[in-house]
Amino acid sequence: MYKQIGVLTGGGDAPGLNAVIRAAVRTATGEFGMKCIGIEDSFEGILGDPKIIKLTKKSVGGILSRGGTILGTRNRGSFCKIVDGKLFFPEMPIEEALENLKKLEIEALIVIGGEGTLAIAEQFRKHNFPVIGVPKTIDNDLSATEFTFGFHTAIDIATEALDRLHTTAASHDRIMILEVMGRNTGWIALHSGLAGSADIILVPEIPFSFDSILAKIQEREKSGSKFTNIVVAEGAVEVGTQPIYLDPEALRLGGVGSHLRRRIEAATGKESRCVVLGHLQRGGSPNAFDRMLGTNFGACAVRALANGQTGKMVALKAGEVITVPLKDAIENIKSVNVEGQLVRTARDIGISFAAPNEAKL
Ligand code: F6P
Repeated sequence: MYKQIGVLTGGGDAPGLNAVIRAAVRTATGEFGMKCIGIEDSFEGILGDPKIIKLTKKSVGGILSRGGTILGTRNRGSFCKIVDGKLFFPEMPIEEALENLKKLEIEALIVIGGEGTLAIAEQFRKHNFPVIGVPKTIDNDLSATEFTFGFHTAIDIATEALDRLHTTAASHDRIMILEVMGRNTGWIALHSGLAGSADIILVPEIPFSFDSILAKIQEREKSGSKFTNIVVAEGAVEVGTQPIYLDPEALRLGGVGSHLRRRIEAATGKESRCVVLGHLQRGGSPNAFDRMLGTNFGACAVRALANGQTGKMVALKAGEVITVPLKDAIENIKSVNVEGQLVRTARDIGISFAAPNEAKL
């Protein structure tokens, strides 16, 4: 059994991070009698002069419902580079991190993060340092788990936004566009679009045709609905084009909503407005599901370490938390299945994805 383990959070924050930290600390210090050290600001906390805090049952009291992460996080660490249009971590000074972990008497790590953070965790496994990953992201784009924590809170927030946009759109006979996050996947747009009664859902997995958007607006006009609600994922692309970036150098997506607003207003003559939900989807208190999932992930991650597992990630499969190899977890991004049940259901109830051949589907 390890005497002392370290916990860190990496990547963009997500509601439920503190639930994982709390459960990990309570499980480690309670049932297994291990000490817990919190590493601050992701892997940065074990480079150079380490930044750490002691975690006890008392110090994690009252954090379950709190947004963000008490440990701090980074989604572009000092060693992160953009190579060929992709975030890459070639410079992670793993030897320095291992040396510091030794000095700090940290014998194993729980790494809570998304794809990039878990890819670094895998490097620790390769250097025979015990590590268990916990999948986090509001984008829900990690392939080895059915859900990541943070996602359900994000879709609750996007759904509420759509509900609110609905009444103002209907009152003014306007086209309202809600731009949501999700990187290069459309999970937030798809789930909130279904729950929030969008008329058009635009996701990166189904490149859209501008004519199909106009056709859906016209179809609604003809049937007497003078307003249209559109939810667009930040990574959505028009057929034959590339995603729109707020900051291409830093690979920060954003702007597709405003771009569409201008074109729709010009093409239809109808007033159109765009709302970018942005970081409201990430901040604040986690919902009940994310508190529950984060708690279960945190406790299961510690049990996995205590049982001698390493190089694994906890994952949700058919309602149970299991462990899967970290390398499987980071190999592929989980995209929306364009032939899947949710897309089919959306189409069956009259939602358009504005695909070029949408009318025939
Ligand atoms: O991966 C989570 C996420 O919120 C994405 O949906 C979004 O594209 C990105 O992070 C935003 O990152 P930042 O916080 O750096 O603006």
